[in-house]
Amino acid sequence: MNERISPPQPLVAASHANAADYEAMYRRSLSDPDGFWREQAGRIGWIREPTRIADWSFDPVDIKWFEDGVLNLCWNCVDRHLESRADQTAFLFEGDEPGEGRSISYGALYREVVRMANCLKAMGVAKGDRVTIYMPMIPEAAVAMLACARIGAVHSVVFGGFSPDAIHGRIEDAASRFVVTADGGKRGGKLVPLKANVDAALARGAEIDGVLVVRHLGCDIQWVEGRDHWYHELGETVPDECPCEPMNAEDPLFILYTSGSTGKPKGVLHTTGGYAVWTATTFHYVFDYKPGEIFWCTADVGWVTGHSYVVYGPLANGATSLIFEGVPNYPDFSRFWDVVERQRVNIFYTAPTAIRALMREGEGPVTKHDRSSLRLLGSVGEPINPEAWRWYWDVVGEQRCPVVDTWWQTETGGIMITTLPGAHDMKPGSAGRPFFGVDPQLVGPDGEVLSGAASGNLCLVGSWPGQMRSVYGDHQRFVQTYFSTYAGKYFTGDGCRRDEDGYYWITGRVDDVLNISGHRLGTAEIESALVGHAAVAEAAVVGYPHDIKGQGIYCYVTLMEGIEPTPELEKDLRAHVRTEISPIASPDLIHFTPALPKTRSGKIMRRILRKIAENDYSSLGDTSTLADPSLVDVLIDERKKK
Ligand code: PRX
Repeated sequence: MNERISPPQPLVAASHANAADYEAMYRRSLSDPDGFWREQAGRIGWIREPTRIADWSFDPVDIKWFEDGVLNLCWNCVDRHLESRADQTAFLFEGDEPGEGRSISYGALYREVVRMANCLKAMGVAKGDRVTIYMPMIPEAAVAMLACARIGAVHSVVFGGFSPDAIHGRIEDAASRFVVTADGGKRGGKLVPLKANVDAALARGAEIDGVLVVRHLGCDIQWVEGRDHWYHELGETVPDECPCEPMNAEDPLFILYTSGSTGKPKGVLHTTGGYAVWTATTFHYVFDYKPGEIFWCTADVGWVTGHSYVVYGPLANGATSLIFEGVPNYPDFSRFWDVVERQRVNIFYTAPTAIRALMREGEGPVTKHDRSSLRLLGSVGEPINPEAWRWYWDVVGEQRCPVVDTWWQTETGGIMITTLPGAHDMKPGSAGRPFFGVDPQLVGPDGEVLSGAASGNLCLVGSWPGQMRSVYGDHQRFVQTYFSTYAGKYFTGDGCRRDEDGYYWITGRVDDVLNISGHRLGTAEIESALVGHAAVAEAAVVGYPHDIKGQGIYCYVTLMEGIEPTPELEKDLRAHVRTEISPIASPDLIHFTPALPKTRSGKIMRRILRKIAENDYSSLGDTSTLADPSLVDVLIDERKKK
């Protein structure tokens, strides 16, 4: 399908960039990056303006932007707005129960952030210290992030759906001595025992100086005297002023753990100046944000989308950002549109998995709510299939609201490929064109650079301000993961097609990273959880197409000698993965098999396992190098019974 849809005319006229602007700005961003980004850096208030703009190399890998600039991102997101918009809403909070929530002005946000920052200081947090944030989607989660940025601490947000083991691993890797959490959270009416999960994580052994606990639900929790502090109690005792720490542009801002194709999740490290400029600039152009508008990104702050487009991008632009604690189907499938109607949301940004799940419920839950406030729709996290795109455009946006399909990654800090609302026609299923400063290249099987319309592995040549700078504590892993496949290029891990109009169509990961409902998981992580179970001898995990989640988790499992597969064991393995990693990593299909297909040198042939999981037996490729080629028929027979 190569259908083109033009954005509605009134929007084009009022947009921040039209087609001619885009062409000129894009060309200049590549030909004169220093000039271009010096200007865009003007969106940020600097304590000392940078004189050096781009200074990077991909071989050896060393990336710096705005290197001699000094700034504080919390000041840019909060204090800077006090003069002109102290009474304007910064965060609109919608709780898990409809209508439960509050609105927080920039003035009130300032007071909260100062209080939280002083609480952190009172616990001993100093510039450069890592603070782990494990919170529900409530304003205090954003406040904690901003408080860290204010005092120069490095936040490491761990998604509230992760298990104690996962929290523990991240605390250890970051050598974080401080945790901010809440007594509990609620999602879809269900209690999430956040404090209890932190207690369980810390019981696995960690050197912790303090845990700051936000009282959100008032539920019963355990308390460790001397270690745990109530935010509302400590907050009473602290001063009501807290200066913003002057930060060098290249000082770390945050670590965010994300899954790769091998090993444990890695700590993606972002620094202050480049990330600030990137999120502020992309937010301005991609969402075409106008003062006074209400912006709602449904992502949790536990993911990069929440960092960049619930907190930093919107607040750096003085926007009103909606924080939603709940889920799309609670109390019913009209929840998103109920919130849109009540809060008069103008710009709405969500993931294809949510769109597909809502689409299945038909138009009724959407059309019963007034969506006339909506002006722009966005999609992020995974490829959006053209059917879901159409439904979003036709039913949700009534063909009035341009849809921006934004491709990016935790590593890129912000949006990289998208159409711009006033500049480009849209093509359902295509992310669109590169954002300013983004220079994509498609690379063929032999490492050759492909030109024109082509399909290949998506690389980026040249740095952009929002690029991650390192893997926390392991720069070599950073170099190895992203820059060793193709010398001198950043390899994204995605496959992609470029059409004759220069539009990019992301086809999905080409490595062993799964994208489950827009959540990123490594097959290696799930395998390691499975083999951690006493009954399991070996496991191989692959993705397979799933109607709602985009990809499902397919696990091939061989059992220890003498152990028989049973439905109970299957249930037990599922529960085991959920507690080891998270419910989002729960296997969709477990396929018990006597053996895994291996080459004679003992390497599992994942290509074959992927094809069988996809029910595609026609193109298994060469199976003659297998140690036991007859195993393929056994696996196919077993697959057909699933
Ligand atoms: O495969 C791409 C997919 O999500 C991956 C990045 O995942 P993560 O770091 O968790 O960040 C998700 C939110 C930015 C990418 O390598 N992806 C993300 N957005 C899109 C996408 N695939 C297709 N289209 C998108 N719009």
